[in-house]
Amino acid sequence: MAVWAVYLSLCLLIALSASGLEPDYTVNWEAKSLKSRDFDCYPDGGSDQAKCEARGCIWEPSSIPNAPWCYYAETHGYITSNIVETASGITVDIERNTDFPIQRSQSRDINKLRVEITFLSGKSLRWKIFDPANARFEVPVPLELPATPETEENNRLYRVQIQNKPFGIQVIRKSSEEIIWDSAVPGFTFSDQFLQISTRLPSNYVYGVGETEHPSYTHDLNFHTYGLFAKDQPPGYKLNSYGVHPFYMGLEKSKNAHGVLLLNSNAMDVTILPTPALTYRTIGGILDFYMVMGPTPEVVVQQYTEMIGRPVLPAYWSLGFQLCRYGYANDAEIADLYNDMKAAKIPYDVQYADIEYMERQMDFTLDKENFKGLPALVDRMRAEGMRYIFILDPAIAANETKGSYPAFDTGIEKDVFIKWPPKLSDDIVWGKVWPDYPNVDVDNSLDWDTQVKLFRAFVAFPDFFKKSTAEWWGQQIKDYYNNVMKFDGLWIDMNEPASFVHGTVGEKCLGDQTLENPPYMPRLESMYRGLNHKTMCMNSEQILDDGTRVKHYDVHNLYGWSHTKPTYDALLSTTGKRGVVVTRSTYPSSGRWAGHWLGDNYSRWDQLLKSIIGMMEFSIFGIPYTGADICGFFNHAEYEMCLRWMQLGAFYPFSRNHNTINMPRQDPVAWGDEFAAVSRDVLNIRYTLLPYLYTLMYEAHAHGNTVVRPLLHEFVTDENTWKIDRQFLWGPALLITPALDPGVTVVRGYVPNARWYDYHTGEVVGVRGQFVDMETPLWKINLHVRGGHILPWQKAESNTHYSRLNPLGLLVALDDGGSAHGSLFWDDGEGIDTVQNKRFLLTTFTASSGVLTSMVPTDGLAEADRLTLGLVKVWGVTAPVTRVTMSVTGQPDADLPFTYNAQVQELQFDATSQSHTIEKPFTITWN
Ligand code: NOJ
Repeated sequence: MAVWAVYLSLCLLIALSASGLEPDYTVNWEAKSLKSRDFDCYPDGGSDQAKCEARGCIWEPSSIPNAPWCYYAETHGYITSNIVETASGITVDIERNTDFPIQRSQSRDINKLRVEITFLSGKSLRWKIFDPANARFEVPVPLELPATPETEENNRLYRVQIQNKPFGIQVIRKSSEEIIWDSAVPGFTFSDQFLQISTRLPSNYVYGVGETEHPSYTHDLNFHTYGLFAKDQPPGYKLNSYGVHPFYMGLEKSKNAHGVLLLNSNAMDVTILPTPALTYRTIGGILDFYMVMGPTPEVVVQQYTEMIGRPVLPAYWSLGFQLCRYGYANDAEIADLYNDMKAAKIPYDVQYADIEYMERQMDFTLDKENFKGLPALVDRMRAEGMRYIFILDPAIAANETKGSYPAFDTGIEKDVFIKWPPKLSDDIVWGKVWPDYPNVDVDNSLDWDTQVKLFRAFVAFPDFFKKSTAEWWGQQIKDYYNNVMKFDGLWIDMNEPASFVHGTVGEKCLGDQTLENPPYMPRLESMYRGLNHKTMCMNSEQILDDGTRVKHYDVHNLYGWSHTKPTYDALLSTTGKRGVVVTRSTYPSSGRWAGHWLGDNYSRWDQLLKSIIGMMEFSIFGIPYTGADICGFFNHAEYEMCLRWMQLGAFYPFSRNHNTINMPRQDPVAWGDEFAAVSRDVLNIRYTLLPYLYTLMYEAHAHGNTVVRPLLHEFVTDENTWKIDRQFLWGPALLITPALDPGVTVVRGYVPNARWYDYHTGEVVGVRGQFVDMETPLWKINLHVRGGHILPWQKAESNTHYSRLNPLGLLVALDDGGSAHGSLFWDDGEGIDTVQNKRFLLTTFTASSGVLTSMVPTDGLAEADRLTLGLVKVWGVTAPVTRVTMSVTGQPDADLPFTYNAQVQELQFDATSQSHTIEKPFTITWN
């Protein structure tokens, strides 16, 4: 029906209503009719009036870009048939509204469904929609849910209402009476290979849904669709890439926030509509939703990570700067780089080797010609406090002579590789990735496909769901450590899984072709080339821990997830330390074991901003240890861009400069003295603040706090912060405003409503709650410290092995009332389970009215790891100071040497002479 027709009927009904013949009902009807216009009945493309009407939908061309021309009628969907309410939830039976024809000709509709709503806790709930008659695939990722539901109505922040026709669930936040989830909209579909559900959103502000590149942190609502399917796909506009996170955070008009996870691991897409609304379309499994109620954005992440698992605490050294590239020619090149970095005094902790260290790119081998000296080099670097991480890909080469490649041979013995369903074949589903055939010389001048055909060996993909595979993988890692060379962390790549052939060698997938080319193809990069484009056949079979056989179709998005824990476990058991794992493909809860770099980005200015958006998204996905390849992976980096990127990257939790093969060097000593000096300065700032960053990592691990924190997490009542993505915070207290564009000497940044100090000068910024122009000459990144916070710091050294030995400094930034607080988490930096076993120190600091005191809630630190108190800087001290005294129980008070700068209002005092170790509380007074 055309819009004018809707209006005509409306006028008629309103007239009827005015005459007393029709009740209020008509007004609701109007609102709904105009809204349903947004819900696309033909997302597959290629519709016309006849096709549209064949689905029982309404055809009406629109001039609005991307708006559907074929949309659902009001009641298209399911109808509620039976509702049972108990204290812990609601069960609803629903049936397809057969007034409308079948929804998908090639995907069997499931006409009767069960809906189970569980009041998980006062702040979280779940709704699961499934076929009660036939079991379907459910995601085998364990969530940590409360042991018993919240049965006391008064303890729940929400209320749930069921709508009848069309069926829909409404979740209402009781405090504001806002409907924050509302799936009572047309178009709900549940068929074998097409499941669709939409919800109205309570505001225009929605964040998350990954992993895809977004041009802004807050979503554009104009009918943009994002495919979610793990793929070896460099991030690009709307392209599905390495990981899958069907999670969003929504803001409400009341300025509260909530989060929603769809626990489904099939290929899917998500459309964001101007209604405002959001539509999910997935091609398998069930609909299993989890909502957390916040009510603040930061609390949403805490609640979400409580459910999916809190992020791992990475080793302290992994917060140091890291260098990598794909294509080091030999170990001498790495040694030269290391020596040059040392000579330039640029702090750095981790050196990598990419696939070139291997013999023909085969896992667990070493190129004995070009990298023969690598083990000795690594030993030397490690003796000097450095750490080494190397890459592992999941695919295992298969064309070696029997007996000569233990990784493959033992894998066959233990039956770890993914095969076809037994009734089709008992063979492995062969792919091709990096490994070359033995005894051939790769001719790089040939085109890629020919190279793959002629030179790449067959590979087999381990099925990491199986316990036996995890054991086999762990053993390979252990053998390498014991027999070939030492390492401290592991980098797992290509685990979408990536393949250089589509589906399998020969590119013919056996069996059910609707798995490879489903009747509805989500909006994916490969949508016209099949799901197996650059990966393995969807009909490959995997075996879960409990013996259940599943199709790769259902678990493809979990391949990287399943690879991560076995790798982390192997790292711990091999090295006896917790180290760090970085993985390319992630799914909710991957953060429990690993961090994530944002993949194969480009050496382009726009990628600086994209990296901030990417990090913020991974913050809300519960993976705080993130960062992008500094200076870009593909293409030639350029001086100014790389310099600005070094400044921004100094504030990535995972701070690594990395680029691809055959590109010019882009490390900090490749560009001359000025570049090296700017890199040194900014990395010195990073290293100075590592005790603060590490404490934030602990808070993420223990409480689910974000590390890279969007401004709206701290200032949610200020709507100006809702769209900010060119700036970010470290925790609550450090505001980072990088230069992101060429040629700029000034950046415009927001100064949220608080007292802020310029990190470089200690001076108070005069304004608040305003956008201001900040000078940013080439050497400078703008950094501001928030009044009211105390940041722990240490003097930087060449690497963290040495900086950790320095006394602990404090930066006390007083608020308007002269107070501040902060904390320090400290452990040995790399022990396993130090938090669980309470082998750490947690100290809190409070400053108020000229008195700084410490308290020690947890003191489990070994003596060797103790820290002494050093220099303390206090900003915002308005009156001159004549004396600073330190008192510690059982000791005489001591005067501390100090300086006071009246112009900056900075007091500095030095406790170094006291040799006071900070696990003992102290009080320092100035007057
Ligand atoms: C792809 C990864 O994303 C990239 O970082 C790496 O350098 C190459 N594979 C080679 O291993």
